[in-house]
Amino acid sequence: MKVCIIGTGYVGLVSSCCFADLGNDVIGVDIDDEKVAKLREGISPIYEPGISDLLKRNLKQGNLNFTTNIKEGIESSDIIFSAVGTPMGQDHRADLSAVMAVAKAIGKYINGYKIVVNKSTVPVGTAEKVEAEIKAAMVENNLSFNFDVVSNPEFLREGAAISDFKNPDRVVVGAKSERARKLISKLYSGIVRTNRPLVFTDVKSAEMIKYAANAMLATRISFMNMLSHLCEKAGGDIKEVAKGIGLDSRIGPKFLQAGLGYGGSCFPKDVNAIMMTLKDYDCDASILEAVESINQSQRLHVYDKVKASLKDLNGKTIGILGVAFKPKTDDIREAPALTLVRKLESEGARVKAFDPEARETTEKYYPNLQFVDTPYAAAKNVDCLVVCTEWDTFRTLNLEQIKEGMKSPVVVDGRNIYDPEEMQKLGFHYSCIGRK
Ligand code: UDX
Repeated sequence: MKVCIIGTGYVGLVSSCCFADLGNDVIGVDIDDEKVAKLREGISPIYEPGISDLLKRNLKQGNLNFTTNIKEGIESSDIIFSAVGTPMGQDHRADLSAVMAVAKAIGKYINGYKIVVNKSTVPVGTAEKVEAEIKAAMVENNLSFNFDVVSNPEFLREGAAISDFKNPDRVVVGAKSERARKLISKLYSGIVRTNRPLVFTDVKSAEMIKYAANAMLATRISFMNMLSHLCEKAGGDIKEVAKGIGLDSRIGPKFLQAGLGYGGSCFPKDVNAIMMTLKDYDCDASILEAVESINQSQRLHVYDKVKASLKDLNGKTIGILGVAFKPKTDDIREAPALTLVRKLESEGARVKAFDPEARETTEKYYPNLQFVDTPYAAAKNVDCLVVCTEWDTFRTLNLEQIKEGMKSPVVVDGRNIYDPEEMQKLGFHYSCIGRK
């Protein structure tokens, strides 16, 4: 099938490569010249396991192309995906300006029946606005063609995006017309299986499903972070609690990990956006208000632990293990580590950091943050070492070597990756989240 994907961020790029790999003719569109030039050479602008191979292979086979020319993308395709960003606006709502600009372009360049698929995370009711915008642009340009607007939210996780795309738990499609349903079924036929179905629903429910999923997952995390405080004060081990409740098949084991709180490009923005939509419709948003507030304070809870150990932070040096908002990504958007770094620096501490992948992205925005080349260098001569991201490589460090290099052996483990008993035996002054 001829597919155009507008926006080559995480979602757009992964979708472009995966749809091409399924044998479709894909054209990826982006306004960023530099990005498009790199993509054409097979260079991925993001770190994502497996993306480079997919990109190179499909470029070589000739079924994947990239352009800055949106007209070319729209005219040459039957299915147009809008995968542009919907960042959090000043008012905490999703900023839909890029989504509406794409709709306007589609209305201007449409040259036949098109299925317009919205993959970006957008508030309920956006498909209607997109439809109206396309119609208005067609009128302005004296055009008249049929089209369908479909909602097909994306659930891929950074770091596991390709396998999530190829083995989704489900593919959600909100569509009004039978014609659109048939074509989208065909497009996904290489992916969906009986136990991982294509879920057809109405457009508004599809829009809601995306926010509901992310808000539910964020709620689980804040719920566990709330209980971790009780474990710290009353006793109990939050990891044991997670295991015990996770074995209940009604609950399940995932997204019960207490830590520094959630970050990234989705959860913080989506929790805020659905909260605003609830308020706009005069609905109670108090659960999500609590989720957001616990998440904010959780980042500083780790700071409190550093402070409790070191007392005065002025002139102290703190090592940070992991800056990315989670492992297997170079993404630092809403990374809890950076909230901590800012707080530590504001108290007069010096910070040095190590991350296996996020150095370049971090240095772009925080050129003053000292980066070192190894985890051991991050621990060298520091008064305290803080684990902010649970990269696997941190789990297997030579902890004796780490301790020898430190000025004082204080470790604050914001992701519970070490065993408290073992750390104490090794002579660390060790604290973690929700367990002793
Ligand atoms: C998320 C959703 O999972 C995905 O479906 C959606 O499309 C985009 O947002 P992503 O942001 O890539 O994906 O990361 P995810 O693995 O979901 O983690 C989100 C945040 O929650 C991270 O900061 C992570 O550290 C945190 N987290 C996750 C926890 O703190 N505890 C957990 O148990 C799980």
